[in-house]
Amino acid sequence: MRLKGKTALVTGGSRGLGKAVCASLAAEGAKVIINYFHNSSQANDAAEEIRQQGGTAFAVKGDVTDEKGAASLIAESKQLLQQPVDILVNNATGPQPELSLEEASWKDYEDQLVFFVKAPLLLMKAVLPDMKESGGSVINIGSEVVQLGNSSFSNYVTAKSAMLGMTRSWASELGAYGIRVNLLNPGFVPVERHEGVGQDALMAYQKNVPLGRMGIPADIGSACVFLASDESSFITGQSLSVNGGNTFGI
Ligand SMILES: NC(=O)c1ccc[n+]([C@@H]2O[C@H](COP(=O)([O-])OP(=O)(O)OC[C@H]3O[C@@H](n4cnc5c(N)ncnc54)[C@H](OP(=O)(O)O)[C@@H]3O)[C@@H](O)[C@H]2O)c1
Repeated sequence: MRLKGKTALVTGGSRGLGKAVCASLAAEGAKVIINYFHNSSQANDAAEEIRQQGGTAFAVKGDVTDEKGAASLIAESKQLLQQPVDILVNNATGPQPELSLEEASWKDYEDQLVFFVKAPLLLMKAVLPDMKESGGSVINIGSEVVQLGNSSFSNYVTAKSAMLGMTRSWASELGAYGIRVNLLNPGFVPVERHEGVGQDALMAYQKNVPLGRMGIPADIGSACVFLASDESSFITGQSLSVNGGNTFGI
């Protein structure tokens, strides 16, 4: 129970990696807000699964890319938790189209930036007054694509790259308040939205992974528990890749 007494908000926590992060945080005793925007029943099911395991979880609807949506998400979370958010996991994503430079427009870049820069900024500003009082852990979910520089994906790669500098700058600015900010970079971890990806593509990826397997959502969940817990109390501004060694470096 490494997170007993703590509260967490996971954006996009209703499926995929976010759902596993919610389950891992709740299993360690954190009270968890499962944020989502479109699919209420999926989010309610995820919350119910946690409650059935003896944890505490609430599903809260809110568009994290929208100023009012982000502000009311934080206010509602605080009300449900009866205390401020200690752990903020910026995980939500919209569609991630792979586009060549000919196909990509500024709007395609902006569509990614609103999830990976705007939403974290809005939420960070909303939790800041409380976190400045009592500290906190912010975990930005990045991606190994920043190291890989995948072609025909520059819209996504660019926005994920911005998270690296943002994480470091926030860590510098907020360390004095006991607020830690880190970037967690998953490798390719098949989730619901990858259902159409063929076995060949999975094998082609896996054969280059030093640890010889695909990641599973729980790998990201347990890394989040570490970054959220006091076990990482002297770690901030760092970029942690959770990808079986598929990339090295920042
Ligand atoms: N899976 C991977 O292989 C992988 C690899 C590297 C990095 N990542 C990163 O990990 C994170 C999670 O990825 P994933 O694959 O788990 O995604 P996912 O399964 O597609 O889940 C996306 C989540 O975001 C929510 N969402 C969508 N629009 C939203 C909005 N406007 N406001 C609030 N919530 C919203 C979705 O719920 P609703 O649809 O109900 O709104 C859902 O809960 C992303 O940041 C992604 O870039 C994933």
